[in-house]
Amino acid sequence: MKILVTGGAGFIGSNFVHYVYRERPDWHITVYDKLTYAGNKANIAGLDESRVAFIQADIADPEAIDAAVAETDAVIHFAAESHNDNSLHDPSPFIHTNLIGTFQILEAVRKHGKRLHHVSTDEVYGDLELDDPAKFTPETPYNPSSPYSSTKAGSDLLVRAWVRSFGVQATISNCSNNYGPYQHVEKVIPRQITNLIDGQKLKLYGSGENVRDWIHTEDHSSGVLTILEKGRIGETYLIGADGEKNNLEVFKLILKLMGKDESWLEHVNDRPGHDLRYAIDATKLHEELGWTPKYTDFETGLADTIKWYQDNEAWWRPQKEATEAKYKELGR
Ligand code: NAD
Ligand code: TYD
Repeated sequence: MKILVTGGAGFIGSNFVHYVYRERPDWHITVYDKLTYAGNKANIAGLDESRVAFIQADIADPEAIDAAVAETDAVIHFAAESHNDNSLHDPSPFIHTNLIGTFQILEAVRKHGKRLHHVSTDEVYGDLELDDPAKFTPETPYNPSSPYSSTKAGSDLLVRAWVRSFGVQATISNCSNNYGPYQHVEKVIPRQITNLIDGQKLKLYGSGENVRDWIHTEDHSSGVLTILEKGRIGETYLIGADGEKNNLEVFKLILKLMGKDESWLEHVNDRPGHDLRYAIDATKLHEELGWTPKYTDFETGLADTIKWYQDNEAWWRPQKEATEAKYKELGR
């Protein structure tokens, strides 16, 4: 089996590459990545070159993506502009990569008759009230809030249309917030861990009541591989691990695990249009494909992640200053 992993030098894509490398030793993996500010070849360093190849290119480049798709059996499409705060600052790369890029991938898999798995987010469904007993299901209507989530929603709809209109062999997954190693320091958990390492305070948006449904990135990888191998063509599967926590709880846990008190917590400007709550109902993935998450203890997963950032300062240090300078401009 030969697979093409777009965005395989980013956070979740590179964790997926490591996961498949371990779990499917007879597969050949080609990583296809533009290496934007969020991509880093170091994320996939040390893997046997006879089993993992690398192409630096843009998914929106029709010739480059066509040539790469022609050589593979299946495409697992992680590449995206992925950060809400950036999308509020400049939506343009989100249109380019998430919409035009996904369109070019669809055209290539259509032409060459290749299997596609499209990786998406639960943010396409908008947000829930704090006391809403319902969670997101594959039937929840799309209602995205930001340029990030709306372009991801658009990419999902393109995939659905290419399945129905052209018979493209695709599946879609929508996953909740991931945490784990190799996550860029712009995202909430790595930002706070590295702030504390630097003697800076944690930066909490608004009151901290916003809820995210946390899943370890290893469990996202196992979910994607399960859908790739066993999922029904044309179906959407939600991936989540019942990890709902509000931001204040997460921040307090980081403080506790890093031995600091609450004087290290600072409330900063809220994000405009800030989604209140995300929550995933993964029943379909459990019941239809027999998937279960392994990392169900958030505190243990978070402690491992803190240790990873403490042990890998050389990996995140080059990004930290520019990231904080961007946040400073936004007053966050
Ligand atoms: P990331 O920003 O860490 O990585 C994105 C990768 O895509 C980078 O390596 C970047 O260089 C590459 N890329 C960007 N534009 C490209 C282009 N035009 N051509 C080729 N490569 C390009 O993102 P992530 O957090 O790893 O997210 C990966 C996927 O998972 C995204 O599709 C995202 O929507 C989805 N997702 C993320 C989360 C989360 O919590 N981070 C949750 C659910 C779903
Ligand atoms: P983020 O990691 O940007 O993911 P997403 O917007 O995709 O959910 O943010 C997660 C939550 O943390 C979100 O409610 C915004 C909040 N947040 C902070 O409170 N402080 C921060 O410094 C950042 C980056 C985010």
